[in-house]
Amino acid sequence: MTILITGGAGYVGSHTALVLCQAGYDVIVIDNLVNASREAVVRVEQLAGRRIVFVEADVRDSDTVASALTRYGVDAVIHCAGLKAVGESTERPLLYYQTNIDTTLSLCSAMERVGVKTLVFSSSATVYGDPDELPVTENAPVGWPSNPYGWSKLMIERILTDVQAADSDWSIALLRYFNPVGAHESGRIGEDPKGIPNNLMPFVTQVAVGRRATLSVFGGDYATADGTGVRDYIHVMDLAEGHLRAMHVIAERGGCRVWNLGTGRGTSVLEVVEAFKRVTGRPIDYRIVPRRAGDIAACCAAPERAQAELDWRARRGLDAIVRDAWRWQRQNPEGYMGSDRE
Ligand code: UFG
Repeated sequence: MTILITGGAGYVGSHTALVLCQAGYDVIVIDNLVNASREAVVRVEQLAGRRIVFVEADVRDSDTVASALTRYGVDAVIHCAGLKAVGESTERPLLYYQTNIDTTLSLCSAMERVGVKTLVFSSSATVYGDPDELPVTENAPVGWPSNPYGWSKLMIERILTDVQAADSDWSIALLRYFNPVGAHESGRIGEDPKGIPNNLMPFVTQVAVGRRATLSVFGGDYATADGTGVRDYIHVMDLAEGHLRAMHVIAERGGCRVWNLGTGRGTSVLEVVEAFKRVTGRPIDYRIVPRRAGDIAACCAAPERAQAELDWRARRGLDAIVRDAWRWQRQNPEGYMGSDRE
C-alpha cells in the first residue's frame, strides 16, 4: 500500500511517516517546508531503511497533488499539513483560515478527481472548547474554540463530514489530538519549533539545554490540584501509531469517524517540570506568571472509543515522554538547523 502524508516533514507528520515505513508501507511526503525541514524526511529514511518520495510543494497546488496521487498509486492520504500556532492565528486569522481551509479543500478536490477517497485528518481537542465534563468523550458537544486555529479545525471537520455524507465512497477519520509531545526514542527526529516555542514541552527542553533562561508558568490559580493548567500529554509515537490504526479501520469500515487520541491522564505544568527533573536530573528554572489568554484550566481525553475501535492505546507514559523529548533536544540543540542539508 502507498500512503501520501501532507505535512510529512513536520512534527507529527514525520513520526507518522516513520511508523508507516516501519510497517512496510510506501510513503510519499508532500510538504512546502514552511514550518518543517527536509532533513526530517532524510532522517526518517535512515531510521526506517526505506526510501520516501519527497514532493516539495504546497498542498493547495491541486494539480501537483493529483499527479502525485496517480503517479505513485496512492491508496490513502494522511492530512497533517496546516498552520498550528494558536497565538499567531489570533493575530493573522485570514492567513489561518485561508491556509488551513484552502489546503483541505484543494486536497479533497484532487483526491476526488483521481478517485482516492480514504483520508485521515489531523484535528485537535481544541474543537471541544472548554469542556463541561472531563474526561471528554467524542460525544461531547464541540465547543467554542478560543482562537481562529481551533475554529479552522472545527470548520474542516464539518466540511469533511459533509463530503463523506454526500458520497459514501469517502472514508474519513477525524483524529482529535490532545497534546502531542516527546520524540522518537532514537533522538533523531523530534519537534523543532521556529523561534520562541509556544508550547510547554519544547520550552522546557530549551530551558534545560540553555537556550532559554526561565520557564513562565502561565497561571498558578486554576481550580486544579496545584493551581497550574492540566493537559493530556500524548507521546508523538503513540499518536503516530494511532494514525496507522485509524487508517486501517476506516479503509475497512468506511464512514466518517471521530476518535480522540489521548492517554486519559491529566498532568499539570508543575508535574511536567518535576518529571523533567526526576528523569533527566536537570532542574527547570520557572516562575509563575499571569494566565495566558484563551487557556483553559484542564483538558483530558476519554480514550475508550479509540481503545475499543482501533485496538490502540497510548503505551508510553510521562517519563518516556520526558526522556525522549530531552534526548532529541540534547542531541540536536538547534533542532535540524545544524544539519548539512538545511
Ligand atoms: N504553558 C506554560 N508555559 C509555557 C507554555 C505553556 O505554563 O511556556 C502551559 C499552558 O498554560 C497550558 C499547558 O502548559 O496549561 C500546555 O500548553 P501548550 O501551549 O503546550 O498546549 P495547549 O494545551 O495550550 O495547546 C495544545 C496545542 C494546540 C491545541 C490544543 C488543544 O498547542 O494546537 O493543545 O487542546 F489546539
